[in-house]
Amino acid sequence: MILVTGGAGFIGSNFVLDWLDTEAEGVVNLDKLTYSGNMANLASVADNPRHIFVRGDICDGALVAELLKQHKPRAIVHFAAESHVDRSIHAPAAFVQTNVNGTFTLLEAARAYQSTLTGAERDNFRFLHVSTDEVYGSLGPGDPPFSETKAYEPNSPYSASKAASDHLVRAYFHTYVLPTLTTNCSNNYGPFHFPEKLIPLIIANARAGKPLPIYGDGQQIRDWLYVSDHCAAIRSVLAAGRVGETYNVGGWNEKTNLEVVHTICDLLDEIDPRAQGGSYREQITYVTDRPGHDRRYAIDARKIERELGWRPRETFQTGLRKTVQWYLENEDWVRNVQSGEYQSWIDRNYNQRSVSEAVE
Ligand code: NAD
Ligand code: DAU
Repeated sequence: MILVTGGAGFIGSNFVLDWLDTEAEGVVNLDKLTYSGNMANLASVADNPRHIFVRGDICDGALVAELLKQHKPRAIVHFAAESHVDRSIHAPAAFVQTNVNGTFTLLEAARAYQSTLTGAERDNFRFLHVSTDEVYGSLGPGDPPFSETKAYEPNSPYSASKAASDHLVRAYFHTYVLPTLTTNCSNNYGPFHFPEKLIPLIIANARAGKPLPIYGDGQQIRDWLYVSDHCAAIRSVLAAGRVGETYNVGGWNEKTNLEVVHTICDLLDEIDPRAQGGSYREQITYVTDRPGHDRRYAIDARKIERELGWRPRETFQTGLRKTVQWYLENEDWVRNVQSGEYQSWIDRNYNQRSVSEAVE
């Protein structure tokens, strides 16, 4: 048995589905079901006896302690977080609460739990913390990609809260010898990605005939990784990562936001052309930039490749084609998550942005 937190969100649900497909062990899935948690992501394992879903908050220490006592997991894989940078700019408190206090609560519970274990159970226990490349800050055009030794320079309330959680994890290894592992991954994309994030938002808006909002000049660079490649990386780190270490995970796919949006438009033009003719690119709209917007992220993933033999399987082209297909085949899923809360977020985030001239 392993305990997964945040397993109803985008990456967590992909991980749970992958895990139940590829491993013999079961999963206890602790998730608060915030706006981004969605039981529909887990519909295919609803009747699977190896999946135990618990609705609850990682900040609830008594609940976490009880789950550890009851299920005796051999590992905790910690995804639960507030994850959207724009939301962290509008309302940072929830980010400090879940990402910092929540991780602290889990670490405390894990430390107490580990002290009850003996022999092989104690030796084999792991706490795997899923983190982000955003903790490293922003790169200039000629800078080398982020390595694991790059100094932390978080620039948003989101990345600052994740950086704080990474530091707590590091401290629990060094101070209490809690067997921690940390992964710092680049931008994921794929099925079940909540349509507040760039790729699913662009696909959903394109199909709905709405503007495709590009922040600033659209020349910001992200490194994109298909979500199942991230899940495979986490499984590798859990299986063979050295305790106390961090592993950077990335797809070697640096793209500007404009390139990403153009590629989505071109794929849609091919697979699902607009009824009125013309390209989806005509819907692109430049809007006011994100405050403090990081210019470039890039990951040096050589450590995980060298030590654990992990490599991404999908290229950006193959992964994005699969993703666009998934959204076309799962329009009900998109409609269902575009609830009242989603609409109020879209109003808050986009109505305050003015439309600017194209900078192409
Ligand atoms: P997400 O927002 O889609 O999912 C987060 C999940 O956590 C949701 O199911 C939500 O209900 C749950 N959750 C939130 N607060 C909780 C709480 N207090 N207690 C219990 N559950 C809670 O996020 P995601 O994109 O799947 O990201 C998952 C993890 O991966 C995060 O830690 C994020 O920082 C990290 N990460 C994400 C990316 C990415 O591109 N999305 C890249 C690198 C790292
Ligand atoms: O790098 C890893 C991180 O990637 C994760 O830690 C975060 O949880 C995840 O949300 C993601 O953060 P980003 O801010 O990079 O992702 P987002 O999809 O929000 O934005 C990607 C880029 O696209 C970013 O430069 C902002 C831009 N953007 C985003 C939206 C929503 C736009 O231009 N227009 C938009 O409407």
